[in-house]
This record gives sequence, structure tokens and C-alpha cells, in this order.
Amino acid sequence: MPHASITGWGHYAPPNVVTNDDLAAHMDTSDEWIRSRSGIRERRFAGDDETTATMSIAAGQRALDCAGVDASAVDLVLVASSSPDYLTPPVSSQVQHGLGIHAGAMQLTVGCTGFIYALVTAQQFISTGAYDTILVVGAELISRWLSWENRDTAVLFGDGAGAVVVQATREPCGLQSHVLGSDGSGAEHIIVPAGGVAQPTSHEALDANLQNVKMNGREVFKFATRIMGEALTQALDKAGRSADDIDLFVPHQANKRIIDYAAAELGLPEEKVMINVDRYGNTSAATVPIALSEAFQSGRIAPGDTLALVAFGAGLTWAAAIVDLATDVPALAAPSAQAHTA
Ligand code: UT7
Repeated sequence: MPHASITGWGHYAPPNVVTNDDLAAHMDTSDEWIRSRSGIRERRFAGDDETTATMSIAAGQRALDCAGVDASAVDLVLVASSSPDYLTPPVSSQVQHGLGIHAGAMQLTVGCTGFIYALVTAQQFISTGAYDTILVVGAELISRWLSWENRDTAVLFGDGAGAVVVQATREPCGLQSHVLGSDGSGAEHIIVPAGGVAQPTSHEALDANLQNVKMNGREVFKFATRIMGEALTQALDKAGRSADDIDLFVPHQANKRIIDYAAAELGLPEEKVMINVDRYGNTSAATVPIALSEAFQSGRIAPGDTLALVAFGAGLTWAAAIVDLATDVPALAAPSAQAHTA
């Protein structure tokens, strides 16, 4: 049975850096409140000429270059996003076209957990032998959904994209286990109420700001602190591993307090936890691939390492995965070939 090896990575973050003080100039908040409640110092907001598709294409191209894979070799494109350019067509087809790929393309909309769902999906196609090379992207442009009148949500999110290339190999590496979960009874806790078919866009909806993302922060916080440790423990059990086997924990970057809580529950020391929420805020489905890409680029991941990925988000949903790197990852042997700035 073929295994699925991560062979390339890349990310793109818009150049426009928005600090907490920048936000405090426009709404009733402060750098101190944002930092102490979430760990966020700054985030990136997309420019007028950027969309989820353009950011995905930039990240995807970097991942392909890093893996040394030509567009013609890609068998499938998976794009996880809850903020696609349009309700239809799916952003995955824009990404496939923009990268000059001739293959099927699929959008997965699973809130902040979308990238891990997509990675698990990629592994299924590879392990059946159906495909050899899959591009997996997580990308979001949430800033256009934020209401500056809603300070408890507006300060938390940012824009960006991350991508990995997954390729078939005979070496027993890749996904060792996964846990995918959903509890739709919590649907209202993270929601964009208008713009879908339940409540189409209307003057009334716009007047009530229903096209913006609404979040019940306290409920999501309780859910997140419970589910991160639970999902990861289940994934470790399924893989026959323990927390000591984890070389790097790459969690969803929503809030540093939530990450610290999960790391403490598993007894993971600081040096085994990837954190960049301070620089990007919560980029939803893009947090895990951006964090992965930065971890690879900064030398925090070595061939043969075991990674633990975990995320939670809208749905409510959750996902965890234990991933072994191959012992031979050419891009890791030539770090200068894949280095780029965000
Ligand atoms: O990817 C899915 C993601 N979502 C999450 O992970 C969110 C999870 N939740 C959280 O991260 C936290 O609940 C928040 C960061 C959203 C809030 O932290 P908290 O410690 O739970 O604060 P709180 O909701 O208890 O609010 C405390 C106070 C309130 O004032 P009162 O009622 O105590 O007077 C809020 O009105 O802070 C006030 N507040 C703010 N103050 C300054 C809320 N937002 C702000 C703000 N600036 N931006």
C-alpha cells in the first residue's frame, strides 16, 4: 500500500501588517487586552487586489517549487477554505487553473479544521493507489467578514494561505492515524448568518450586519480547551504512540491560551510546540499549513520526525492527525531552495 509523504510546503501572507495598536485606533480595544486574552500582536489583512484564490495560488506555487514538482504532475488539488472568492464556483478550480494544473479540484469547507480534513482526504486517495501527487491548500480571507463594531471577534482573525505537496512513497511514513469530529448542535457558536440560502443577502441582513462572522468566544473557548487534548489523545492511541513520541505539536493557531492549555495537558515542553498566532492571528483553515511551512523553513522539523496536528472550529468540528515525515525529504536537505519570506 502506498504511503503519503509530505514533500513540499509553502505559505503566503499579505504584506499589509495590522498591529493591535492599528485596530485600537478604530475601535474600543487595546494592545494589552488583545495580547493578554489571545497572544496576538499583529495579523495580515489582504489588499484590495488579493483574494483567497490569489493567496492560495501563491502558497501552492511555493509548495510545488519546494517539492520540485511540475504542475503537470499534480493529480488532484484540494483547497480547504470557509471564505472562498464565491459561493460558487469553488475556489479550488481557480487555484487549479491559476497554477496551470490539469486535474480534478475540490473545495473542502470545514471551518478551521479544513486543512487537516483535506490532508486526511489526500492520504485516502494516495493509499488506494488512485493518485500519486496531491496539492493540499488551506486559505482564508476572513478580514472582509469582520465587523469593526464587533470587537470581540474583529481583533482575532487574519488572512493568509499555506500549502503542502503530498506524494506517494513505499516508505511507511505519512499519516499514522487521524480523528475527525463534528457536532452540529454548536452551529450557532461560529457563524456567518447571511449570504447562504437559509438567509440570502438582503438589505435587512446587511443593515443588521448579518454578513459578518459572529462568534460566541466563551463557548468556543470551553469547547476548544476540552477537544484539543481529547482529539490528540485519541489520535495518539490509534497510532500506538504517546505524547513523548511527538517531535513537534502544530496546533490550530486561534489563541495562545488554548494552545498552552492543550500542550500542558499532554505534558509537551515549549520547544515542541509551534506557535505563530502572535504574528498572524487566527487565519482559520490556513493556520496549520502556515505554521507547518514556517516550522519546516526554520529547521524545526527534521526527516523522520513525528508531527501532531490538531484543530477545532466552525461546525463545530475538530480534527487531529499524527504524521511521520519520511526519512528522505529532498527539500529538507536543501533548505535554501525552499526558503522564502511570507
Ligand atoms: O478558530 C475558531 C476560533 N475561535 C476561538 O478560538 C475563540 C475562542 N475564544 C477566545 O479566544 C476567548 O474567549 C476570547 C479571546 C474571544 C475572549 O477572551 P475571554 O477571556 O473569554 O474574554 P471574555 O469574553 O470573558 O470578555 C471579557 C471582557 C468583556 O467585558 P465585561 O463584560 O467583562 O465588561 C468584553 O466585553 O472583555 C471585553 N472585550 C474586549 N475588551 C477590549 C471583548 N472584546 C474586547 C476587545 N477589547 N477586543
